[in-house]
Amino acid sequence: MKLSKRLLAIANYINHEDKVVDVGCDHGYLDIYLALNKKNKMIIASDISPLVIKATQENIAKYNLEDKIKVYCTDGIKNIRENYDTLILSGLGAHTIIQILAKDVKAKKIIIQSNNHWDMIRKHVVKMGFGLFSEKLIYEKKKLYSIMLFKKKKNHIMFQEKLVGVYNENNIEEYKIWLHIIQNILTSIPKKHFFKRLKYQKQLKYIKKYLAKKNRAVC
Ligand SMILES: C[S@@+](CC[C@H](N)C(=O)[O-])C[C@H]1O[C@@H](n2cnc3c(N)ncnc32)[C@H](O)[C@@H]1O
Repeated sequence: MKLSKRLLAIANYINHEDKVVDVGCDHGYLDIYLALNKKNKMIIASDISPLVIKATQENIAKYNLEDKIKVYCTDGIKNIRENYDTLILSGLGAHTIIQILAKDVKAKKIIIQSNNHWDMIRKHVVKMGFGLFSEKLIYEKKKLYSIMLFKKKKNHIMFQEKLVGVYNENNIEEYKIWLHIIQNILTSIPKKHFFKRLKYQKQLKYIKKYLAKKNRAVC
């Protein structure tokens, strides 16, 4: 089972003892990878779409993992009664993620790859009492992704980190790509939309700081 760089980055945040619920599992590849490589004792793959769930079940059967991965057709974590401690929300939009997190979340660890509004996700999950412990940017097939690791432990998060994430010294190339993306967005927003531009201008400033930080470390 070969995963995309993005899904592999998510898998790398999972330890073998984690009791995982993968919400919006789609094909179930991540869950199959975890069962084969990390040997997690509890893996739940859930999706809202019955068609997706059927395909996931077929994929799981191909690998004879029916006794290792439990499958739910449900909205988010609704009706999941098992004692999970790790939640994966990947490939979903920020508003859907926030809706899912409005239910009773039992997890001590949440891994999020949101399709949009990364700053909104960081602010929201921190408000829920989680700390943002790590963030990894992945550039794949001309798209930039952010994989965020939250844990149910307080850690101080600065305004800058809410906007551009926790500094990751292995993401210098991805910061450069992000810088270009933001510069392009800024050229498309008319100057009269001052407040709309402000957030991107701040993001630009902080990403430049992250790049300068790396240069200082090299000198
Ligand atoms: C783009 S796929 C992402 C699949 C996989 N997690 C990944 O990162 O590659 C999004 C999946 O989330 C499912 N989904 C959307 N809203 C959901 C919800 N409220 N609860 C559970 N699954 C949902 C969709 O049916 C779809 O299979």
